[in-house]
Amino acid sequence: MAFPFLQELPVSILVLLVVVLGLYYIKSSKSQNPLLPVNWPVVGILPSLAINLHRLHHYIAFDLLSPSGHSLKFAIASIHIFLTCDPVNIQHIFTLNHTNYPKGEEFADIFDVARGSLFTVDGEPCRRERTNYQGVLSSPRVVGLMNTCCRDKVEKGLLPFMAHMALTNARVDMNDLMMRLVFDLYAMTIFGVDTARLSLDMPTVHVADAMDTVMEVAFIRHIVPAFLWKVMRRLDIGPERKLAAAQAVLRCFTMDMIMKRRANDHVIVQEVPMDILSNYVNDPRYNDDLLKATLITYMIAGRDTIGTTLPWVIYNLAKNPHVVSSIRDELAPIISRKPSVAGVTMTMLDLEEVKALVYLQATLLETLRLYPPIPIERKSVVTTDVMPSGHEVCARDIVLVSIYSIGRMESVWGADCREYRPERWLSEDGRQLRHAPSHKFLAFNSGPRLCLGKDIAIMQMKIVVAAIVWNFDVKMLDGQPIDTKLSCLLQMKNGLKVKLNKREM
Ligand code: HEM
Repeated sequence: MAFPFLQELPVSILVLLVVVLGLYYIKSSKSQNPLLPVNWPVVGILPSLAINLHRLHHYIAFDLLSPSGHSLKFAIASIHIFLTCDPVNIQHIFTLNHTNYPKGEEFADIFDVARGSLFTVDGEPCRRERTNYQGVLSSPRVVGLMNTCCRDKVEKGLLPFMAHMALTNARVDMNDLMMRLVFDLYAMTIFGVDTARLSLDMPTVHVADAMDTVMEVAFIRHIVPAFLWKVMRRLDIGPERKLAAAQAVLRCFTMDMIMKRRANDHVIVQEVPMDILSNYVNDPRYNDDLLKATLITYMIAGRDTIGTTLPWVIYNLAKNPHVVSSIRDELAPIISRKPSVAGVTMTMLDLEEVKALVYLQATLLETLRLYPPIPIERKSVVTTDVMPSGHEVCARDIVLVSIYSIGRMESVWGADCREYRPERWLSEDGRQLRHAPSHKFLAFNSGPRLCLGKDIAIMQMKIVVAAIVWNFDVKMLDGQPIDTKLSCLLQMKNGLKVKLNKREM
């Protein structure tokens, strides 16, 4: 052998690498906050992030943001990220200097299934689209339809289904049930069709599955470099292959709805006032692609958010029976005034009746504080700026705001911030709701891009939760892991298995 040292080379390189990394580790642990993960050369905190991916939001809140004083800058390769949950920074990003922090081109690429719609645009197109959405969502006919659909779905779909499951002592996955309920509700509101996914035979919901895939693969697109997922998309491999199939299902479904409407042979919901599609279908500003993207955005806005939140409400109520008792105490006087109807064994409240229920609303807000359905907001940076916390951000940096972490910050919510305590939302006498500014309670976003469906969502969730709590005892099955999916939504990974008991009244 002419060069025996060559055989030793890989071992030498390995030893050298270990020594260099060891020295780097010692150096960085002296210069860095020792409570934070090591910031390795090139890969940054990626190794620590990868190990903790299964508990991502907890990791961000308690391993990254808490020890760093609520804001942190790090880099992965050439990508510079500013992560924060500091309300002062949030107010700066979402309101005071919001024009410097648009969603950006990369966000629009990630959610290409909704390209061109309000969800993905900034600046003037955003202002224009917001005006249109506001007009649609406040139109008395759309609001009327939403109320009727919600009432009908709960009365004729949810309650009989739950009564059947209680009678047969069957196990129910409340996560799946709520997702089906809300899917049906929004399909009726947007397209005017009853998809009947909440029925005893529990049909497969391809469109809902496709929506979940969009959010799961979008999450991957957020965390891998853009060039990598774009190559995978071009080659049609890995998660991109799954996404392409899901996008096709979604586009096909919406196009089918549009075509049926144009042919005027859609299935009409009884006495339908006016659904969302009918506000757009003859509008020349919306070509087919934009119309599909807009309808998909409505589906995401309503179905994904309410469908993700309701299972967490039920989970928190099942874990806190005293909260259930307080809700029933609040419901009792209203229900006692309702005339009893012969043969009707279940009671539900109408929109007007739930409006004044502050304790019930406090339970929803408390759930959204701890389990926001959209746990992270992403923004881009237009020009160099200094955050109120003193951190400098530069053009093309990524800004990530952890909504999940804000709700668990002691400095904002007090020492009991990790407890589920609806009372924190109520005035001393318990009669009024306390206001929390949106830069501290970010579940519905903040600033000029505040959620446009907040009031609708709260009303609908109140109607659903009041009906469940009044008519049923819900018992969570022991020993089930409650984890979250890796997704842009805070969805439950393994469902929420419960047993139901019909309450005797
Ligand atoms: C629990 C229920 C809901 C929560 C927590 C919620 C939360 C949010 C959040 C965080 C955003 C900002 C998303 C982003 O830009 O990345 C948003 C935007 C929006 N939401 Fe909601 N939402 C809910 C329900 C609804 C409902 C039921 C509707 C309509 C039927 C709706 C309509 C919208 C619209 C149109 C936007 C876009 C606003 C814009 O980009 O300027 N939301 N919502």
